[in-house]
Parts: sequence; C-alpha cells; structure tokens
Amino acid sequence: MSMSPQPVRCLIALSCALLSTAGAARAELALPPAPTDADYREVNRAAAELGQLLFYDPILSGNREVSCGTCHHPRFGTGDGLSLPLGDGGRGLGPDRVADPENPPEQRVPRNAQGLFNLGAHEFTVLFHDGRIEVDPARPGGLRTPLDTDMVTGFDSLLSAQSMFPVLSPDEMAGHYAENEIAAAVRMGRLTGPGGGWDLIARRVAEIPAYAEAFAAVYDDIDTPEQIDFADVSNAIASFIEFEWRSDTAPFDLWRRGEAELSPEAEAGARIFYGWSGCSECHAGTFQTDHGFHATGEVQIGPGKARRFEDHARDPGRFGVTGHAEDLYAFRTPSLRNVALTAPYGHAGAFADLEAYVAAHSGTTRAFDSYEVARAVLPDLPVDDLRILASTEDRAAVEAARVDMRPLSGEELRLILAFLHSLTDPVSVTGRLGVPESVPSGLAVPK
Ligand code: HEC
Ligand code: HEC
Repeated sequence: MSMSPQPVRCLIALSCALLSTAGAARAELALPPAPTDADYREVNRAAAELGQLLFYDPILSGNREVSCGTCHHPRFGTGDGLSLPLGDGGRGLGPDRVADPENPPEQRVPRNAQGLFNLGAHEFTVLFHDGRIEVDPARPGGLRTPLDTDMVTGFDSLLSAQSMFPVLSPDEMAGHYAENEIAAAVRMGRLTGPGGGWDLIARRVAEIPAYAEAFAAVYDDIDTPEQIDFADVSNAIASFIEFEWRSDTAPFDLWRRGEAELSPEAEAGARIFYGWSGCSECHAGTFQTDHGFHATGEVQIGPGKARRFEDHARDPGRFGVTGHAEDLYAFRTPSLRNVALTAPYGHAGAFADLEAYVAAHSGTTRAFDSYEVARAVLPDLPVDDLRILASTEDRAAVEAARVDMRPLSGEELRLILAFLHSLTDPVSVTGRLGVPESVPSGLAVPK
C-alpha cells in the first residue's frame, strides 16, 4: 500500500491544470462532507458507561497502576502529552509523568500514544501506526493480528480486539517477570485459555461485584461472573471509546454543514490542504486519512522496534508487518481530528510543536538537519533516545524512503495551521461521559 513518489507528482500536475483553468468550483468539489450518523456504528449507551469505568480502572494492569486512561487521557487530546509513553513503572500523568525510582521502566514505549477519535466510524479498519491489526474477512475471526490463529474470538469490532494488546504488553500494562500473575503468564507465553493472561484479567474484573452486576445488566448472554471473559471487557471498552470520542462537531464540520462560518484563514487553509498542496492525497476525506501507509521521512527517537536478538534502534514501520521493501519506514496516515491537542506528533512524537512538525513533515524544513531533542517531551530515563539521529546510515535510509512533498511558504503554513485548528471539536475533547470520580476496584483514577 505504500506510495511511490509518483502520485504526488501526478497531483502537482493536476493542481497546475486546476489553477490554469481557474478551477475554483472544482476545488470546492474536493472538500469533504461533514460526517453523518451513517458513518458510525451504533453504540449501546449502557455498554459505553460500563466501558468508561474499565477504561480508567488500573485493575486491568498487572501491577494495578496503569489504566488505558494513563496513556489516553482527555486532558492530552486522548494521548499522554509525551513523545513516547512510560507505561508500567511510571508515576503521574501527562508531561508530569516520571519513572518510579522503586520500579523504573526498562525502556520507553517505542511509539507515540495515538488519539482515539472517531474509531467507531466504519472506515477505520486498520489500527496502530503500522496497521498490525486490521479487518480481514479471509481470516478466522475476521481479523488479522500478530497472534493470528491464537486470537480469541467474540469481539464486536476491530477496535475491541485492539485492547488485547496493551494489557499483555510488559512495558505498557502487564509489568515484568514474576512481578504479578499476569506478567508471569505472559512470560511463559500463556495468553489464551483458562489461566492465560487474558483470562486472569477477566477474573480480576469478574470478582468485583459492581462489575459482575453491570455485565449481567448490560449483556443478555451474561448471568454469572464466570461467564465474563476478556472479549466482553474489551467490547465494553470499545463501546466507550466510540461513544466518548466521536468527533463531528468541529468548526470545520459546522461550516461544511452550512451551520456556521469558518474564519477566512481556516477556509483558505482548507482549500490549500484539500487542493494543490497534496496533503489530502494521503490525508483524504472527512477524517483526513486514506488509511494507507507512507514513508514521510519522519524523525525517529526512542528505542525503535528491533526484534529479539537484533541490535538497532530503527522503527521500520509497515515493513515490520509486511516485510515488503516498499513499506520500509512507512506509517499509517493519521486522522487529523483534534490534531491541535494531540501533541507530540509523528509516530515517535519527535515534535511537540505542530507548526514545527508540519514544516518538517512537508519538507519545508529539513527534518533531520534542523532537529533538536528539545522539541520532544521525554521524562528522564537512563536510556539513549538518539541512536537513529547519531547514525548517518539510519538517517539516510529514512530520508531515502521519503516521498516528495511540495514545500510550503510561511503564509501557506500559517493558513494550513488555521485549518488544522478548525478541526478541534469541543464536544469530543471534553468527552461525553468524562473521567469517573472513582472506579469499582477502588484503585486510583488518573485525573
Ligand atoms: C503505556 C501507554 C498505553 C496504555 C496503557 C494504553 N495504550 Fe493504547 N496506545 C499506546 C500507543 C503507544 C499506541 C500506538 C502503538 C503502535 O502503533 O504501535 C496505542 C494505540 C492504541 C489504539 C490504536 C489507535 C489507532 O488509531 O490505531 C487504541 C484503540 C488504543 N491504543 C486503546 C487503548 C486501550 C483500550 C487501552 C487499555 C486497555 C490502551 N490503549 C492502553 C499507548 C498506550
Ligand atoms: C505522502 C502522504 C502524506 C502527505 C502528502 C502528507 N502527509 Fe501528513 N502524514 C502522513 C503520514 C504517513 C503521517 C504519520 C507519520 C508518522 O507516523 O510518523 C502524517 C502525519 C501528519 C501529522 C501528524 C499527526 C499526528 O497526530 O501525529 C500532521 C499534522 C500532518 N501529517 C499534516 C499534513 C499536512 C498539513 C500535509 C500537507 C502539507 C501533509 N500532512 C501531507 C502522510 C502524508
């Protein structure tokens, strides 16, 4: 799926044609419509309310300290405000998160925590920066994941299946070695079946009476706590994410529906974005994504994604999933909904500043040459975050894979930023249910 430089060149040729025929009306046609109800799955409100509690409850993590909300918090645009998360072994929230001196993380989580907006829209059929889980009707269970046939079934959606991964990742939620029963199961490779990692988590939840009652009330096929399995937990969490962070009332949407004016700067920026700039070649349509993979020469910091027994700090992106050379350093095109609030940016979160990011991303500035680590948000940890930047060979490989983009003038950049800000939707940013005061386990909620 990775794109060769070809389409961008075609696009520039096309936009030249548009300009020469003064095609303002045709440019208008390229602007996407606002989302409608038909774009989204229906959500069961009671399941979403149960999912809200589970999402913010550290009971799902091995050491009972990390919840989904630790890395996906509404205060930080459903991310964590860090370049690269600190999962198990961290303390505090957002940019204030630090390594716990008693049990410091072994390394940072290698990729930036993604925002969770609009994941209940039908068109999101590929998840993670490298798309390693995706809808695939040809496979048992209808999903392609790194676990394939070991995958448990019973998920309502791809989004639901996604929760299976952070909870068993030692660095994110499970913890290490024999610290707790979940980490121990993961270490022995016991994931599925009774006594496997997912079952142990479901048992923890089912033992709490308030959860057992809520599951029985929400799901017709659950009467007793023994019937609650991890797929039920993750189905509820998925309902919450879909309900809570649907984002379709940004100023840009109101304007597209004819309900409000857009500032002249944002409107001009939208026309550049969806017009000759080429941005919408990849950031296509209503949600600003083609759901494809592209190598955009991103600055990479952090530990990377070396496989076991490999010694390097590279993150090869989509290549790690497909093994196809054309997918080297290609990452999934992110949706840009609420992007003004989801800093830091890029799969490694190398830039905390949106303008500096877009300038580097579009090739307006030379990403690697002008990079300073002060642009990132990295709590202290005794690790080397700059191995890729220090390696001439690795940098050259990332830059060589990069597709061409047309650099922007200062004025164009300013207008595009005004457009990006018009994608900030106050309703989805606060969330509809919000952060609960407390959760049934009685553990601390990330506030
Ligand atoms: C330690 C931080 C951390 C925790 C805890 C965490 N996540 Fe994430 N989340 C991430 C990171 C990092 C990614 C991107 C991973 C990648 O692409 O390789 C991600 C990606 C996702 C995505 C994919 C979004 C997309 O557009 O592809 C979803 C959905 C998600 N997380 C939901 C959850 C849920 C639900 C939980 C709790 C069960 C959770 N996360 C716990 C850090 C975290
Ligand atoms: C060739 C495809 C392509 C083009 C053209 C493109 N982008 Fe991107 N964009 C991507 C990909 C892929 C990423 C993710 C990179 C990563 O994960 O490191 C991205 C990331 C971004 C992000 C960061 C989002 C986040 O949450 O981290 C912004 C902002 C952005 N692009 C804006 C733009 C703008 C503005 C333009 C036009 C000037 C543009 N892009 C052109 C593919 C493209």
